[in-house]
Amino acid sequence: MKICETIEEVRGIVGEWKKEGKSVGFVPTMGYLHEGHQSLMEAARRENDRVVVSIFVNPMQFGPTEDLDSYPRDLERDCGVCRTAGVDLVFHPQPEEMYPDGFCSYADMNGLTGELCGRTRPTHFRGVQTVVLKLFHIVTPDRAYFGQKDAQQLAVIRRMVRDLNLDIEICGCPIVREPDGLAKSSRNTYLSPEERQAALILSKSLAEAARLIDGGERDAGAIRKKMREKIAEEPLARLDYADIVRFSDITPVDRLEGEVLVALAVYIGKTRLIDNMIVTVE
Ligand code: PAF
Repeated sequence: MKICETIEEVRGIVGEWKKEGKSVGFVPTMGYLHEGHQSLMEAARRENDRVVVSIFVNPMQFGPTEDLDSYPRDLERDCGVCRTAGVDLVFHPQPEEMYPDGFCSYADMNGLTGELCGRTRPTHFRGVQTVVLKLFHIVTPDRAYFGQKDAQQLAVIRRMVRDLNLDIEICGCPIVREPDGLAKSSRNTYLSPEERQAALILSKSLAEAARLIDGGERDAGAIRKKMREKIAEEPLARLDYADIVRFSDITPVDRLEGEVLVALAVYIGKTRLIDNMIVTVE
């Protein structure tokens, strides 16, 4: 497995693969890899001749009061995970490599980013789109793999790829959970044992929504209300949002119809966690 820090090195290696007619699968990450990332790498391994993983804690997608400095990092362990998953190349650039002096170009969109996480993190998706677009230009993958846990991000990347005519297949992969239901996240490491227990309120609240939908409830307002009430039962939890939107364009819905995203963001102590489910309603 090659570990590259420069764009030039990555271009050289991927260029050789392309000349040999190899397909390239790409998994962009911010490191501190867990089973959710591993499932993306496994999918990339199955479906492509070569697999590239990027490990880059992207400063542009963090707000000024967010956890950029404390975001967990462990490159050595991450490289071990990548090796075991059969990754061919890890791209681990320094911030200066991605954002040299004078950097002032961005990728952004007018839709999809105003709701859900975009409300409390107004510059987040611009940072995500910019870095992902840059990584796509550097790695030139045939397929790129994103977890459904960041469902809004997945919808935003799909739209960017469609709107800007990028010739890359975006593959969404299911959420990986702990046995007790907590969605895997690098940020789970911030939780104290008590908070870890309290964090189960996210998946419990989604289970409550699923129960209502299975029982025939189609009124989005009624489901939102139940989810909010459920979150309020947990003293360590503070709701950011509990919402239901159309998945394709992240617009709020009154009634459940077609493919909808039921999504939550909740602070457990100081840690902001997200979770969701995508439901198709006939
Ligand atoms: O999902 C993430 O880890 C990040 O948002 C991504 C896609 C790697 C961009 O920095």
